[in-house]
Amino acid sequence: MSVLDDLLARADARSAQRLHSVRDARRTARRKLPAVVFDYVDGAADDEVTMRRNEDAFGSVAFRPRMASGLVEPRLGVTVLGKEIDFPVLLAPCGLVRLLHADGPAGVARAAASRGTVSVLSTVAGSPVEAVASESKAPLWFQLYSAAGLREADSLCDRAAAAGVDVLMVTVDTPTLGNRERDVRHGVAPPLRVDAHNAVPLGVQVLARPRWAAQLASTGIRLSSRGAGPAGHGSGLLSSVASPFSWDDVAHLRSRWEGRLVVKGVLSGADARQAVGAGADAVVVSNHGGRQLDGAPATLQALPGVVAAVGGDAEVLIDGGIRRGSHVVAALALGARAVLIGRPYLFGLASAGELGVERVLDILRAEMRRTMVLMGCPSVDQLGLDWLDVPRT
Ligand SMILES: Cc1cc2nc3c(=O)[nH]c(=O)nc-3n(C[C@H](O)[C@H](O)[C@H](O)COP(=O)(O)O)c2cc1C
Repeated sequence: MSVLDDLLARADARSAQRLHSVRDARRTARRKLPAVVFDYVDGAADDEVTMRRNEDAFGSVAFRPRMASGLVEPRLGVTVLGKEIDFPVLLAPCGLVRLLHADGPAGVARAAASRGTVSVLSTVAGSPVEAVASESKAPLWFQLYSAAGLREADSLCDRAAAAGVDVLMVTVDTPTLGNRERDVRHGVAPPLRVDAHNAVPLGVQVLARPRWAAQLASTGIRLSSRGAGPAGHGSGLLSSVASPFSWDDVAHLRSRWEGRLVVKGVLSGADARQAVGAGADAVVVSNHGGRQLDGAPATLQALPGVVAAVGGDAEVLIDGGIRRGSHVVAALALGARAVLIGRPYLFGLASAGELGVERVLDILRAEMRRTMVLMGCPSVDQLGLDWLDVPRT
């Protein structure tokens, strides 16, 4: 390890220790990243109404605790698609993860494994699935986008399977890219495209974050006129994520994929049934963190309808707006088997690399444990509607 690497690693260790909540991680990420990169992560579509709805929905949940339970150590482990995980929080697929810290997607996968859970690698994370699988040596799920149609999708699936991935997640809420207005205002839509018009203001932002710039140089990622992407990958990655998958396409992928299949991005019971009909083993109730259709409902609000429609025919996961361990408990009480987080771990990664992701997972786990003890609930298996104070009308 070079002296510079050593210094950077020590700085990350110090930064990680200073994080005490997801909000701290967001604040630190904002300090460490150029504004254009922070806004790429933090922002959402149009007026960001749906993103706010996701978070606000958790504020309307009231628990119904049971006192004097004598409980000290609640059980947090669950089985998701046949895999036992230590607590019910997975890391959602996110594009351009490599841009946030040199530890990149492999660091994220290692952090998840070290905390007994899994991360989902996005097609456009910034590193090929083979590299992440071999660098991290951690279990990995793979999320599929394919702008070029089913032939490209089939080939991406074959590569993921050959790299040892056994769970495929197909995202169905991105037939076109949402209007990420912060990226538009920075002049970099599709995300992080650099041209003659924005090069100077972006250059100033990057110069103000020299440590981040040094790390970026070490990853080989280039900001280019076609969007951000790894050098040598050809086109800018995020200009090509739009994936107009149909339910027939999902059924086609199901017929070829030998492992478990997850459909990400449903918000209604009817669509969840379509996913199950196409062969999904699990669905993720998700509105892409508010980055696609602004005006879509909060995921927590959509969850009960999906759980009721699916019955026991598939597992139901949820993401969007989860910032506290108590939010995980609320989602499970409303019928989710587990949750995924996006921005919280990206903020951890930007704050302190792999250590920052571990720290965010530790924070959520500690908060979740405390919530369960304070509620007197001995195990996540037992969470259900009777642990919530449902408003009477
Ligand atoms: C920066 C960023 C990039 C994302 N990229 C992808 C992606 O490549 N594929 C995908 O299915 N979802 C993507 N998402 C959505 C996440 O998987 C997840 O649904 C969302 O972040 C959950 O909301 P949260 O950020 O409030 O936790 C992205 C989200 C963010 C914040």
